[in-house]
Amino acid sequence: MTQQTSVLSKAPQYPVKHKKLLAWVKEIAELCQPDDIYWCDGSEEEYDRLCAEMVESGTLIPLNEEKRPRSFLARSNPADVARVEERTFICCENKDDAGPNNNWMQTAKAKSVLKDLFKKSMKGRTMYVVPFSMGPLGSHIAHIGVELTDSPYVAANMKIMTRMGQKVVDILGEDGEFVPCLHSVGHPLSPGEKDDPWPCHPFEKYICHFPETREIWSYGSGYGGNALLGKKCFALRIASNMAKEEGWLAEHMLILGLESPEGEKTYVAAAFPSACGKTNLAMIIPPESMKGWKVTTIGDDIAWIKPGKDGRLYAINPEAGYFGVAPGTSEKTNLNAMRTLEKNCIFTNVALTPDGDVWWEGMTDEPPAELTDWRGRKWTPDADRRASHANARFTVSASQCPSLDPAWDDPEGVPISAFIFGGRRASAIPLVFESFNWNFGVYMAATMGSETTAAAAGDVGDVRRDPMAMKPFCGYHMGDYFNHWLQMGHIVENAPQIFCVNWFRTDKDGKFIWPGFSENMRVLKWIFDRVHGRATAKQTNLGWMPNYEDIDWTGLDGFSEKQFNELMEIDAEIWKHELETHEELFEELKKRLPREMVLKRELLTLSFMR
Ligand code: OXD
Ligand code: MN
Repeated sequence: MTQQTSVLSKAPQYPVKHKKLLAWVKEIAELCQPDDIYWCDGSEEEYDRLCAEMVESGTLIPLNEEKRPRSFLARSNPADVARVEERTFICCENKDDAGPNNNWMQTAKAKSVLKDLFKKSMKGRTMYVVPFSMGPLGSHIAHIGVELTDSPYVAANMKIMTRMGQKVVDILGEDGEFVPCLHSVGHPLSPGEKDDPWPCHPFEKYICHFPETREIWSYGSGYGGNALLGKKCFALRIASNMAKEEGWLAEHMLILGLESPEGEKTYVAAAFPSACGKTNLAMIIPPESMKGWKVTTIGDDIAWIKPGKDGRLYAINPEAGYFGVAPGTSEKTNLNAMRTLEKNCIFTNVALTPDGDVWWEGMTDEPPAELTDWRGRKWTPDADRRASHANARFTVSASQCPSLDPAWDDPEGVPISAFIFGGRRASAIPLVFESFNWNFGVYMAATMGSETTAAAAGDVGDVRRDPMAMKPFCGYHMGDYFNHWLQMGHIVENAPQIFCVNWFRTDKDGKFIWPGFSENMRVLKWIFDRVHGRATAKQTNLGWMPNYEDIDWTGLDGFSEKQFNELMEIDAEIWKHELETHEELFEELKKRLPREMVLKRELLTLSFMR
């Protein structure tokens, strides 16, 4: 028997009754020709073993067991440090279905290119079978995927980021539905060849989604959203397609619970583009002066939202961990995250301290006197470069978050009372306002803008329209997506109220006006009060806005009414220009843009002409 035949006939380590799954694993093994196949069971022992193997192979560096127990540092290849949007494709029959917001490849063409690349791509490696549930096990809002990957780093991260292992195969039973997710780092090994600590393909990368058959094929990268396929690829790009077909929402949103001193609980979901502090907001600790207010975390990045029997929308966090941007995270900006990161973490591309702990820019006011940077080179504060990569990440289980909401694993999800949309805008958008109605809210969300992020390769600082913070993640034509959003508000009887926020407005000297971070709780409280029909507001061209006295200012010394007015200003000239630039977005999407969007733009333009 040749080695390949023996691998193909190898039975899973635990019972698998799903014939289609077994057949697919065999088919892919035939194509990729791994040296071994391993079915992940999802146990803690397995995780420890995978990590120990990666320490052995040089992929992981164990951190100081006293300072950061059971934690590791990975350093990626410098050419593999972020999601590669220009190599990310929606593959379907009709180009228009993918829309101008996506790179497109025709299905058969993509399959043929990928099959060539995947052929023998796992030689010299183990193929890990990673069954995972996006969402609480057995929840009617959750969906299942199986990732085949030749990266033990991916398998270990998937253990943290999803509900992973044998229990998922048990739920699948004989014929449960799953999304096949295929991943290879694209670095086969010839016999005796020494492996790279971070294997990846030097230049060829393809992150391909097939919404028509609900499949994902990712080749060449081992980093983040390119490789942990449950996250952006499944939970957003494929799931947004499923959601459109089935009448639900798959969104780039955090979910948090707001609890008043009287014990009333309200859940909100909020969309912000990458690198706008979503994890910080999801774990916000209210200022001390707001006694009795509590915030709890359901999720920090993605929300799956389905209509409930009572006419409300119910949301789950499909993930089970946080894959967060480390730089900028500190006890001041996010104490809950820092506590979450005390143990059992995988850090990627952060700096290493001489005593075996981690550091990144923004963690402390003063950097340590000496470090090893993310590329493994000696670093001192006078070095003319960063110590951690701007998109350095932590992977950690949600279960370690001190603000975790008791319902975070509830299969029923939590009822959503408000959607919040926020961009990173220096002007135009006020600190907060509530949309007049659902359709106006959809318009505002559809036209939100933000700066480019380090999470996506590209120049940091460019401003781009990022509808619903979904531009890189909507797996179909954005015009159809707007239409789906418009419809969703009317499918449910009690649609959430829609709010827009902007923490990033600057004054004439370019300084942020709003202190942000825990002070954002004041804005959340106004939103809470609006949802409960209690807070007053004034009517403006954009919607309902708080008056100065409608916000709770106790304890925020040194923030004047004048500054508040500056934050809230709606400048007619700026808005006329803003609305003109919305036309650019609409022009791009015009083949499928809902007429409602054009009408709303006309109405708003008229309101600024008066
Ligand atoms: C992320 C993102 O969450 O880029 O990584 O949005
Ligand atoms: Mn994100």
